[in-house]
Amino acid sequence: MLSRHVADKLQNYETPFYLYDIDLLRRTLESVVYESAKHNYKVHYAIKANYDDHILGIIREYGLGIDCASGNEVRKALEMGFDPKGIVYAGVGKRDKELRYAIAQKILAINCESLEELFLVDELSKEAGCKTDVALRINPDIDPKTNHCIDTGQADSKFGISYEEVLERVSDIQALENINIIGLHLHIGSQIRELHVFENMCEKVNVIVANLDSLGFNLRFVDVGGGLGINYDVPENEPIPNFASLFSIVNQYLSVGDREVHFEFGRSIVGECGELITKVLFNKTTATGRRLVIVDASMTELVRPAMYGSYHNIENITSQEELRSKYTVVGTACESTDVFDENVSLRKTKRGDLLTIKSAGAYGMSMASRYNLHDLPSAVYSDEI
Ligand code: LLP
Repeated sequence: MLSRHVADKLQNYETPFYLYDIDLLRRTLESVVYESAKHNYKVHYAIKANYDDHILGIIREYGLGIDCASGNEVRKALEMGFDPKGIVYAGVGKRDKELRYAIAQKILAINCESLEELFLVDELSKEAGCKTDVALRINPDIDPKTNHCIDTGQADSKFGISYEEVLERVSDIQALENINIIGLHLHIGSQIRELHVFENMCEKVNVIVANLDSLGFNLRFVDVGGGLGINYDVPENEPIPNFASLFSIVNQYLSVGDREVHFEFGRSIVGECGELITKVLFNKTTATGRRLVIVDASMTELVRPAMYGSYHNIENITSQEELRSKYTVVGTACESTDVFDENVSLRKTKRGDLLTIKSAGAYGMSMASRYNLHDLPSAVYSDEI
């Protein structure tokens, strides 16, 4: 972990802040580019995971496309200089003005998640006097064996169009004159550590693609989404996720002819390169004997533990004490669920110590809020300290 090595320097910055290990980010990008090139796979970065300018600038250097979930994310990607033809835009509820904007930008594909949306894109494209490239986001009905809060591809989920509905309405879909259906898209969930679920996904995709083929669809690419998990338990053991394993499963099980295969990784690209650095404000013990460490970060900087019960490894990076104790680490927000973790074994911790909350590069800063009128956290980059 970077913070342990630069703890002295970190004392000069106002806490809480995100610390980004740019060298690790670059090594992660090198790995995903190298491994994907072996199979000629195309990788998009899911910008929702972290849209920090410095990070996006580096990701752009490696030639990745961008996966967006809102009109503003599409705008951000374009402003940061990403090629429109490398941008895909998914989302169950796109507003008319977002669709009009995306249509005008001529991005790679708008990934439609309902038939009503598909018909609307057709209508708005006609209005704009153009033909729009779209992909069908189909719900594959797969259990990704992850936290239920972040699965997206089960039959009852709000994401994607049901495959049955597509089959029922084939003629209506094919009658649309102002769209080109060029891709199939799916995303089964996030933080997937049991990689065999991707085998099931591939087998479903094979059937869907073969059926759509025989019905006369002309798909140019298959986008199998993101979801590769990271090691929150012991991040030091696996700072760079195992892209090679996932690609080799997809290479072995996916059978879609010579179509392009796309991925959309968020967490696996930026998750491990970010830490949330926070200062201990107070120590106290509850009447029940629970030893609390109150830090100056909270769920407003990193909401994942409060929102999904997610685990992040925590370490005291400035204490020199040999002795360890068990603590409950809580934040400053006026919410009882504002707890980073319980029973954390830390070196004896006192007011003023710095703690790192690890693996916070993805869905940390991008989900920060101003509840309690907290300031948004700042960022410190390893290549600038
Ligand atoms: N593609 C689509 C269509 C998605 O919805 C997502 C994430 C991704 C790609 C990127 O997935 P990743 O590679 O990062 O797993 N806030 C939650 C995660 C929400 C994920 C939403 N969709 C968390 O903090 O765990």
